[in-house]
Amino acid sequence: MLNIRIEATTAPKQKPDADNPLTFGTIFTDHMFIMDYVQGEGWIDPRIVPYGPLQMDPSAMVFHYGQELFEGLKAYRSEDGRILLFRPECNARRSNATCERICIPTIPEEDYVQAIEALVKLDGDWIPTKPGTSLYIRPFIIATDPFLGVRPSATYKFMVILSPVGAYYPEGLNPVKIWIEEEYVRSVRGGLGEAKAGANYVASLKAQMKAHDAGYSQVLWLDGVERRYIEEVGAMNIFFQIGGKVVTPGLNGSILPGITRRSCVELCKLWGYEVEERRIAADELFAAAVSGELTEVWGTGTAAVVSPVGHLRKGDEVVQIADGGIGGLTQRLYDTLTGIQLGKIEGPAGWVREVV
Ligand code: PLP
Ligand code: COI
Repeated sequence: MLNIRIEATTAPKQKPDADNPLTFGTIFTDHMFIMDYVQGEGWIDPRIVPYGPLQMDPSAMVFHYGQELFEGLKAYRSEDGRILLFRPECNARRSNATCERICIPTIPEEDYVQAIEALVKLDGDWIPTKPGTSLYIRPFIIATDPFLGVRPSATYKFMVILSPVGAYYPEGLNPVKIWIEEEYVRSVRGGLGEAKAGANYVASLKAQMKAHDAGYSQVLWLDGVERRYIEEVGAMNIFFQIGGKVVTPGLNGSILPGITRRSCVELCKLWGYEVEERRIAADELFAAAVSGELTEVWGTGTAAVVSPVGHLRKGDEVVQIADGGIGGLTQRLYDTLTGIQLGKIEGPAGWVREVV
């Protein structure tokens, strides 16, 4: 259990106007959580302080070799005024899995969740309540040793910041257009793909710009070796409904094991759908589109929630899905998941955690 010191701000910021849409990731709350790691001492000095710039040595290793990871989850305000988190221990566990992969010391799961809860409680007034809004929580860890050699750092900072957000895509719940990338790859098995390391997102930028320039919202990555099999989208996992079955790429080491993905798999199974987590070739997808068996495509992620995909492009081939509208299963998943997150629908045991 952490003994968190709190230094409250003396200059609270103005909260965003509830009538204006919240652009994703642009506004930050009054406070942030910080805890340091020092070799030989462990994680020390957990504290919540006013949100503001960090003073760091320019030689800090994170600036040079990118030893960094992040997580993303959300806090919601229920109609009866409770603050709810969605499966935060899954983020703590995934953060520790990423720590192991990039040689950062792990944080006990209960301490990780306690840090988030303490910060969200203090800045609870920042949780927006309009439909489609929430408080995005961004925990991250950075390597801070002032050293230019390549090795794991001996010191780190674990931090949590908060941002009131609306929809991740400007399209909202309208279907997004996705570009299947054939030139660049995001990750290969044995690399960092299944870790939530910032490095994966740097690797994605070039293709993302290419897709944006062509009028597409996001990139759909193919496997890094054969460039045949569907992996995931820039900030979401991907699902298909083919011949009535729910199909999503299996966790093969180069895909992020999304918490929304896992929750959708569990919901679809509960509802009696046959769910296949397996390799799926882009060719199979296009063939299923031609035969009429591909009926729905959607992405899943904390920021993106459940996001319908209306259009896929690979080279010169284009697939239009569900007449460009949102499919029935996609809508049911969106409604159920957001209903559970907002405390309106009772979900499976342990999915929602109240901050008290
Ligand atoms: N895949 C990538 C690359 C992501 O960045 C995200 C977002 O976190 C996801 C998938 C979805 O993961 P989750 O549902 O845990 O947010
Ligand atoms: C999230 O959904 O939490 C993510 O981390 C996506 C992010 C890259 C915006």
